[in-house]
Order: sequence, then C-alpha cells, then structure tokens
Amino acid sequence: MKLIVAVIKPFKLEEVRDALTSIGVQGLMVSEVKGYGRQSGHTEIYRGAEYVVNFVPKIKLEMVVPDSVAPQAMEVLSTTARTGKIGDGKLFVVNVEEAMRVRTGETGEEAL
Ligand SMILES: Nc1ncnc2c1ncn2[C@@H]1O[C@H](COP(=O)(O)OP(=O)(O)OP(=O)(O)O)[C@@H](O)[C@H]1O
Ligand SMILES: [Mg+2]
Repeated sequence: MKLIVAVIKPFKLEEVRDALTSIGVQGLMVSEVKGYGRQSGHTEIYRGAEYVVNFVPKIKLEMVVPDSVAPQAMEVLSTTARTGKIGDGKLFVVNVEEAMRVRTGETGEEAL
C-alpha cells in the first residue's frame, strides 16, 4: 500500500475529489494547510490577487491506496490539479506498512 500526500490549490479540491472517486479511491483525509515551495519570499497568485508569499493557503490530501492504484491516482491528481502556474502543488508517495479497519479488524488492502 502507498500513502499519497497531495498538496493542491484549494479551488481544485472538488474537481480532484471527483476524479479520485471515479477511479475508486474510497477514503481521503483533507486538511487546510499553509506552506511554501521554492518561490519563498516572492509572490504567488491566490484567488486572483498577488499574495506576498511566506505561507500560502493550500489543501493537503492524504490517501492510502493499493500499490496497483498508486500510479493511476498520481496521474489523476497531477492532471486535475494542474493549472500550469506556480504553486500547483506537489505529490509525495510513502510506503505503508499496515492498515486496519477498526470496526471489523480487517487488515491490509481489505481495510482500505
Ligand atoms: N519540499 C517540500 N516539502 C513539503 N512540502 C512542500 C515542499 N514543497 C512544496 N511543499 C508544499 O506544497 C505547496 C505547493 O508547493 P509549490 O507547488 O509552490 O512547489 P514549487 O516547488 O515551488 O513548485 P512551483 O515552481 O510549481 O511553484 C507548498 O505551499 C507547500 O505547502
Ligand atoms: Mg512554488
């Protein structure tokens, strides 16, 4: 299993969520975060306005998916989150040791 952490522009959330649902991603964590990438100290456009960047609002998505689904999830995430402008975000992929559905005790991919 893989944990995909995706940092995206907030206005892309619904489109990205719909695309993930369409490929069978069933669970998702969503957080409002602030951060910066390599333009730290420069300006980035946010909601049509130039933002003096130290910390720019972003959405962080975290999803655990079977290994076989990870490449497709990354493809869908990158194409739906992309505007082509700076600050489109980033994807990180991490190996996951184990998962468990608390209610039933199912483990591994069965727990996703
Ligand atoms: N190396 C990193 N580690 C952790 N979080 C990061 C990292 N780089 C970017 N982020 C997070 O992703 C968000 C978006 O980053 P961003 O898309 O601006 O990256 P970038 O490398 O500057 O690319 P671009 O040149 O396209 O803007 C940041 O606001 C931050 O929350
Ligand atoms: Mg950037």
